[in-house]
Amino acid sequence: MARAGKATTIVVFNQKGGIGKTTTSVNLAVCLAALGRRVVLIDLDAQSNATTSVGLSSPAATGAYQLLRGEVDLAHACRPTPYPNLRLVAGSDDLSWADVEIAVKPDPQYVLERALASAPDDVDVLVVDCPPAFGILSVNASVAADVVILPVVPSPMALDGLHKAWWNMQRVRTHFNRDLGAMGILFTMTEDSELMHRLTEAIMASFGERVLPVMIPRDLKVIEAAARDLPLVVLDPDSLAATAYQYLAEVVLTRLMGEDGAAMTDARRDELRERLREWRGPRPDAGQPGALPAVRETPPLEAGPAPEEGWDDDPSQYSGDLEPVGGLGWKIGVAVLLVALGAVLGFAFGRWLYFY
Ligand SMILES: Nc1ncnc2c1ncn2[C@@H]1O[C@H](COP(=O)(O)OP(=O)(O)OP(=O)(O)O)[C@@H](O)[C@H]1O
Ligand SMILES: [Mg+2]
Repeated sequence: MARAGKATTIVVFNQKGGIGKTTTSVNLAVCLAALGRRVVLIDLDAQSNATTSVGLSSPAATGAYQLLRGEVDLAHACRPTPYPNLRLVAGSDDLSWADVEIAVKPDPQYVLERALASAPDDVDVLVVDCPPAFGILSVNASVAADVVILPVVPSPMALDGLHKAWWNMQRVRTHFNRDLGAMGILFTMTEDSELMHRLTEAIMASFGERVLPVMIPRDLKVIEAAARDLPLVVLDPDSLAATAYQYLAEVVLTRLMGEDGAAMTDARRDELRERLREWRGPRPDAGQPGALPAVRETPPLEAGPAPEEGWDDDPSQYSGDLEPVGGLGWKIGVAVLLVALGAVLGFAFGRWLYFY
């Protein structure tokens, strides 16, 4: 449960990759902001997908990496986003190094928690998007967490991974974070198929009430949103997955954060959707009012040095320069044989001297 007088830290974690952590972090953060909470989204992943998903670019001169290194405090690590109430602590490539750099600090598991302790008073919720590994960054996030959301795609391999992720969180709770309150499993990318129903039932049988009462359906709009660097709930608040994320925000506030009075009426749900539609409206990076930013272009692959003309005409021309595969091997073999032969002959000669 949230500690009094302190922003609530919601961590979205699963060591499995590509299961909707970033999509969940971003859309949950935007919905909570649209519901009037003052939110900071923290991108702890070197891939920086949460950063681009809210339309910002990486690297940032001051972002999650600098926050973890203690070079800036939280207030200075935050950047405004195009969405009111939502600020971002950006991810960057440098985060790949943070693993190594933090591990050698004293009490390395508490680095993020210490950094978040300086959260300004005008922050209600911190949403942390974790990288796909239970490394030092995810450990730091879970040590700082009040609430953990574990997204999972119902699949045969997911159940095993989910148990591991769940027990990793439990171990963090036991050893480092007694304040870790609620943990909830969130089904993502669900489909209406017989197999998927069986898989979700198997997970529910295993985890019971720890499974949140909302499923995020597989929805092509999610991919379009990523290509446009827009949160899905802003691109199309009426799409299936966006509607589910709006409901997730309600579930998180009421069930995981225990906020009294956060349950929504139909009128408040309509209000939330209307606000998200407004946010999609005139944007500084959109050409004209109401226009959407274009789909992000993929940069061309940088060409390496061109191979020399005719390089593959006659592969045998290289044989003179290269040690043939196994070349050293047969030389060692012959040497061993010669040594063995010498030993046998020496032994025979010794015996001959002894008897005659
Ligand atoms: N509900 C959904 N429907 C369709 N596609 C989805 C949905 N949720 C996520 N995706 C897509 O699946 C891919 C992985 O999603 P996402 O980046 O959120 O996962 P992740 O767990 O953060 O990945 P990583 O472990 O690499 O950080 C992305 O291409 C995303 O657009
Ligand atoms: Mg991600």
